[in-house]
Amino acid sequence: MSNADVAAEVRSGTKRYPGVTALDGVDFSVRRGEVRALLGKNGAGKSTLIKILSGAERLDSGEALIGGTSIEGLGTRDVAALGVATVYQELSLVPEMSVAENLFLGTWPRTRGALDLRRMRADAKAAMARIGVDIGVDSPVGSLGAAGQQLVEIARAIAQRPALLILDEPTSSLAADEVRQVIGVVRHVAEQGVAVVYVSHRMDEIRQVADTATVVRDGRIVQTLPVGSASTEGIVTMMLGTAPEAVAVRERRPSAGVVRARPAHRQAERPRHRHPPRRDPRYRRGARLRPYRDTARAGRPRPSGGR
Ligand SMILES: Nc1ncnc2c1ncn2[C@@H]1O[C@H](COP(=O)(O)OP(=O)(O)OP(=O)(O)O)[C@@H](O)[C@H]1O
Ligand SMILES: [Mg+2]
Repeated sequence: MSNADVAAEVRSGTKRYPGVTALDGVDFSVRRGEVRALLGKNGAGKSTLIKILSGAERLDSGEALIGGTSIEGLGTRDVAALGVATVYQELSLVPEMSVAENLFLGTWPRTRGALDLRRMRADAKAAMARIGVDIGVDSPVGSLGAAGQQLVEIARAIAQRPALLILDEPTSSLAADEVRQVIGVVRHVAEQGVAVVYVSHRMDEIRQVADTATVVRDGRIVQTLPVGSASTEGIVTMMLGTAPEAVAVRERRPSAGVVRARPAHRQAERPRHRHPPRRDPRYRRGARLRPYRDTARAGRPRPSGGR
């Protein structure tokens, strides 16, 4: 990989929050035209890595570079000017405003000081056409469904013509057909040479959208690999650091038709085992004592004091 191909890079990046090392000596890079999935369980450090690349957070040590330029000391605006566009987990649209107004929020085109509505509508139409999405630019964003809003959010990022597009769980509130639309848009953008970093918990989706996947665990990069080369079980093992007996890959949720607001970060760490591991002798004893049909979860003996 020549240096000119590298859209973004982190070298020995460490980021600490009080009581937790969110990133621990991370080396990461993504090429132009590559869709890289970031995988890891809750709290692994995915969003932190994204925030470093977008300038929203700063490394305590190490270095982050966009297009070969260090972003040390730069804020989000400066990093955006280097070609980074980010769609965060929580949407940031103004529901009462039109699609066009949202697309250029904060950068509304002006002609001789006055807001140029015609230009804004034309630019908005071009931006939506570029990603092949058919949404009227005059509709209030609040009148769109979850998928429409997410696509406007993505269109807004793409309208900045980024070199690196970062998407943090862009499909978490979407239904299957809506997810397909987002995947189509992302592939289309990558084909134009944009590097994409894509966070998702859904393996089926990652296989469709991503070329490569980086597995993050406890703030460290476990491995980066082509998505086609790894089994889901193998990837889940890397994510959990243990065999996936109680696999916690998130199931697709039906669209509720609303966009779920999520807190900036979710601190909840799931217990590693909700149930004791199967090799626990209490399981074996239980299995022997009970008829076969009763070995379903409800029939299993629980350790005393267990949940
Ligand atoms: N602003 C913050 N202040 C304190 N701790 C934080 C902050 N942001 C993240 N953390 C902690 O850093 C660790 C990594 O969090 P991060 O949000 O990067 O995880 P994640 O992989 O994106 O998880 P999720 O899948 O839940 O979105 C977690 O332990 C989290 O609680
Ligand atoms: Mg996150």
